[in-house]
Amino acid sequence: MILPGTMPGPVERTEMKGCEFATRCPIAEGLCRTARPPLAEIAPGHWSACHWPERTGTVAVPKAADAAERIALGSAPVLRAKGLGKAYRQHDWLGRVREVQALRNLDFEIREGEFVGIVGESGSGKSSLTKMIVGLEDVTSGVLEVAGMDRATAPRAAFFDKVQLVFQDPQSALNPRRRIASLVTQALEGRAHALSKADQKALVTELLGKVMLPPDVAGRFPDQLSGGQKQRVNIARALCSNPRLLIADEIVSGLDVSVQAQILELLRALRREAGFSLLLVSHDLAVVRHVCDRTLVMCKGEIVEQGPVEEVFSNPLHPYTRELVAAAQGRGLMAAPRSC
Ligand SMILES: Nc1ncnc2c1ncn2[C@@H]1O[C@H](COP(=O)(O)OP(=O)(O)OP(=O)(O)O)[C@@H](O)[C@H]1O
Ligand code: SF4
Ligand SMILES: [Mg+2]
Repeated sequence: MILPGTMPGPVERTEMKGCEFATRCPIAEGLCRTARPPLAEIAPGHWSACHWPERTGTVAVPKAADAAERIALGSAPVLRAKGLGKAYRQHDWLGRVREVQALRNLDFEIREGEFVGIVGESGSGKSSLTKMIVGLEDVTSGVLEVAGMDRATAPRAAFFDKVQLVFQDPQSALNPRRRIASLVTQALEGRAHALSKADQKALVTELLGKVMLPPDVAGRFPDQLSGGQKQRVNIARALCSNPRLLIADEIVSGLDVSVQAQILELLRALRREAGFSLLLVSHDLAVVRHVCDRTLVMCKGEIVEQGPVEEVFSNPLHPYTRELVAAAQGRGLMAAPRSC
């Protein structure tokens, strides 16, 4: 995605008082530079952090009743973030250390069985968020709960048992010396109750079936599979421990277009089963539109808009989302890739 202007760095961002998008927003006014707009619910389930959502081009603010019909609320949250933030320590060229706020005040939930996308430009903080959820980075402020457990107080093993990461690069994620059967059940190694050989075989067949791979793949090595098949194995592996939440950061960006389409179709098929929730990060709005129920739009470490995918992409309320959608449309990127 190419938007006009450039993203301020995290240091400048930390010093900004008003809206993070003010230096690039075509409709910015004085208030935008002095007061940070709160994320406000404009219609049920559709939130925007802008002082004037009704001024976003010709876009109409949706009627509450219309939006409410499209949102399936009610199920329990699997993930809850409240005031969540991430500060990194960075060194400048003189060796001085300063703290930069990569994520600020994130408030959102992911409900059971819900597939939620995150879109935003490079550097907007998408990976920082996923890394905190899977435990690769510490939380520096706010609350992060998964399956009702607070990351700050819950036993680490119990918390991270509920979350699994699908690695971006299937090639480097799969040990070339292990067979697929042992790779997909790797998450169960070291557990107190080891599976019998027969149970493990049945589990491998079930997991490969979920990602639409034939059982004979179990005996092969990663090098004997195509890139798309490896990514399916990667997904099967993440599903092995029966997680409540799957985190997928750019998992189709390295695949060719027809393989991307197959993986997206697989994710859609898995969504119908709704055995887990998904947080899917992608630069490509079409990917999120194709697979997810709701989307978060991130700009410079903040969520500037969130709501049902169709609602947000066809009726963006925040100028930043509007620019992202226009940039994607201009490059023909809003249609989901098709497999040949
Ligand atoms: N370990 C780190 N130490 C210091 N700063 C970091 C660290 N990791 C990320 N950052 C900074 O935090 C900001 C957000 O980075 P992040 O990787 O989360 O962005 P992103 O949205 O995932 O970008 P991309 O789309 O390019 O993957 C960036 O300005 C980055 O330079
Ligand atoms: S996005 Fe809204 S609040 Fe931010 S600069 Fe533009 S008009 Fe102002
Ligand atoms: Mg990233």
